[in-house]
Amino acid sequence: MAAKSDALVLFGVTGDLAHKMIFPALYALTKKGALDMPVIGVAFPKWSPERLHRRVTDSIEKAGGVDDRRALKQFLSRLQYVSGDYKDPATFAAIKAALRGVKRPAHYLAIPPSLFETTIEGLGAAGLATHARVIVEKPFGRDLASARELNRAAHKVFPEDSIFRIDHYLGKEAIMNILYFRFANSFPEPIWNRDHVASVQVTMAEDFGVGKRGAFYETAGCLRDVIENHLFQVVALLAMEPPTGQHFHAVHEEKARIFKAMRPLKPAEMVRGQYDGYRKEPDVARNSDVETYCAVRLLIDSWRWEGVPWYLRSGKYLATTATEVLVELKAPPQKLFDDSQPRHGRTNYLRFRISPSSALALAARVKVPGEEYTGEQKELFLCEELAGAETPYERLLGDAMVGNTALFSREDAVEAAWAVVDPVLEKHPRVRPYKRGSWGPKAADALIAPDGFWHDPAAEAGK
Ligand code: BG6
Repeated sequence: MAAKSDALVLFGVTGDLAHKMIFPALYALTKKGALDMPVIGVAFPKWSPERLHRRVTDSIEKAGGVDDRRALKQFLSRLQYVSGDYKDPATFAAIKAALRGVKRPAHYLAIPPSLFETTIEGLGAAGLATHARVIVEKPFGRDLASARELNRAAHKVFPEDSIFRIDHYLGKEAIMNILYFRFANSFPEPIWNRDHVASVQVTMAEDFGVGKRGAFYETAGCLRDVIENHLFQVVALLAMEPPTGQHFHAVHEEKARIFKAMRPLKPAEMVRGQYDGYRKEPDVARNSDVETYCAVRLLIDSWRWEGVPWYLRSGKYLATTATEVLVELKAPPQKLFDDSQPRHGRTNYLRFRISPSSALALAARVKVPGEEYTGEQKELFLCEELAGAETPYERLLGDAMVGNTALFSREDAVEAAWAVVDPVLEKHPRVRPYKRGSWGPKAADALIAPDGFWHDPAAEAGK
C-alpha cells in the first residue's frame, strides 16, 4: 500500500470549484479523521486568512450545513493561504516554506487548464515533486495534441502512478455500480453483446445554462466538457471486457482498450445545438458557434459490439436534469406476439439511472388481463440509492491522498478518448438553435431514428 500524503496543497483555493465541491469534501474527510494534515490553499488574489476561512465556512453551510463544529474548527486551523502568480518561482518558494516538515505533499490543481503545465513545472523546479502526488482537474487537454503535450510535461516531473486525473463521474456510486452490476452478476454477461443488444443510449441532461461559466464554456463546449470524458467513461464501463483478475490495473487495461476501439467520430454522426439566448450570457461571444448541446452516434470496433450503435447526448437548458443509460435489447426473433416488436414501442431494456437518484431497472413485457395476447412493458427495479454515500469529490480526494489510482484516468485512456473526438473538434456542423426547456434540436431525433428514439429520463419508465 502506498504511503499516505501528509499535506494537501490546493491550487485554485479561491475558485468556484473549491467553493462548490472541494471544501465540503475536505470537511467531510476531516470529520472522518482522513484529513489530519496541513492544507495549503494557493491562489492569485491577496486574501487574508480570515477571508478564506469565511469562504470555507460559507461553502460548507451552502453544501448542507455545519454539523460538526469541532471538525470545521480543526479544518480551518490546518488551513493556510499562499497568494501568488503560478508563473512566479516566489510563489513556489512560499509554498515550500509553508510545507516545512512535510515529506509527501499532494498538489491539487483545481485551476484553469491553461495553467496546468506552468504549475507542474513550477512544482518540479522548486523541488516540490519529490515523493509527491499531483491531482489534476478535468479537462485534461483540449484535444489530442494538447493532452499529449500535457502528459509529456507532467511526466517530466511526476511518474504516472503519482498523477491523479480527476473525472468526478468515476467517483459516483451509480457509476461504480455499473462495473459492479456487470461483473458481480452472472445473468447480464450472456446477453451483453451484439447478439442481444440493439443499441445503447446515454443521456446527460441539465435544465440550467452555463451561468457564470461562459468564459470557460466558450473554450470547451458540450463535447469537450462532458461527452469526451464523463459519458465516455460510462460507455467504457458498459462496454469493457471482463477484467482478468481483481486488481484495478486490469480494469484500467480493459477500459483503455475500449477507448482505443471507439471509432473516431464523423461530422455526419453528430448534432450540435445552442440554447436560445446563449450568446447573451456573460463572457460569451455574440456570434459564438460553441455547442451547449451535443448528440453523437458512436461505434465500437470490437467483436462484442460490432454494429451496435451507442447514442450519447448532453445539453444545458434541457427539459430536465437527469443522467440515464438505456441498454435496449433486441426483439424476440419470432413474432408470436405483435406488440413485442419495435414498431409497437420499445423492446425490453435495462435502464441505469445515474442521477439525480441512482436506480437500476429491467423492463419486460407482461400480459394485460383479457382475451387478447397483448401486454405492456413493466419495470423491475433492481436497486435504489443508499443514503449516506460519499460525494464523488470526497471519495476521489480521499483515494488520491492514499495513492489509490483505481478511480482515476490513465494516460493512454485519456489520449485514446481525445483521439475519438479529435476529427470533429474543428470540423463539424454549425450549431442549431433550440428552445430552453426542450430536448435540443430536432436533428438529434433524426440521428437516432434508424435505431429508435430517445428515451426521456423524466418519464417514470421508458415505454
Ligand atoms: C462538469 C461540467 O464536469 O460536470 C459541468 O463541467 C456539468 O458543465 C457537471 O454541469 C455535471 O456534473 P454532475 O455531477 O452535476 O452531473
